[in-house]
Amino acid sequence: MSNIVLAITGASGISYGLRLLEVLLAAERSVHVTLSPAATEVMRLELEREVDLKSLTLIDLLPSGSTADVGGHMYYHHYQDFTAGIASGSFPTAGMVICPCSMGTLASIASGLSSNLIHRAADVHLKERRKLIVVPRETPLSSIQLGKMKQLSDAGAVILPAMPGFYHQPQSIADMIDFVVARICDQLGVDVDLTRRWGTA
Ligand SMILES: Cc1cc2nc3c(=O)[nH]c(=O)nc-3n(C[C@H](O)[C@H](O)[C@H](O)COP(=O)(O)O)c2cc1C
Repeated sequence: MSNIVLAITGASGISYGLRLLEVLLAAERSVHVTLSPAATEVMRLELEREVDLKSLTLIDLLPSGSTADVGGHMYYHHYQDFTAGIASGSFPTAGMVICPCSMGTLASIASGLSSNLIHRAADVHLKERRKLIVVPRETPLSSIQLGKMKQLSDAGAVILPAMPGFYHQPQSIADMIDFVVARICDQLGVDVDLTRRWGTA
């Protein structure tokens, strides 16, 4: 079962990250999850869900009412735990996703700061030339933010903004979330059937 790192940070759109977790587990991946403190604050405000970073479990993160067949396994790592396997290049992974990714986290990674486990694991993915998918959510964007995205892209990261398309005629917010999650899964090489693909029946 391949390891995928999923970091959830304090940008709006926590639902993207939670849905991605659900889909990756249903696809029988081992998902190594870490959250920033700001992510818990945004989750509280957006979803009215409280989580304790000291003792977080899968139930805390699955979307409410989820009936997903959880075939994979979630491993949780505290954002300050630099002893976690994902802090080292010797720990094998099939990639890392930061979803949603705040501008603060994006800038920290672009600058190589590594001041928490999320930044460190992202650094590791870049230095090991592994897939790093960053899902920023911000609008409008300053030149500083655009510059940091360019830096990360040049270093090998995939910048995949949380920008749902409308050509698949979404009927609900869930459809719009799935559009973005499906694009992330395409990047990870995880085969999912969440939205109708352009050019297919
Ligand atoms: C309700 C709420 C929504 C936010 N939305 C965004 C956002 O969409 N994008 C962003 O870059 N920051 C957003 N922020 C600000 C970040 O949470 C803040 O910059 C934080 O320091 C990011 O920390 P982190 O990168 O460690 O998660 C939001 C904050 C709150 C409280």
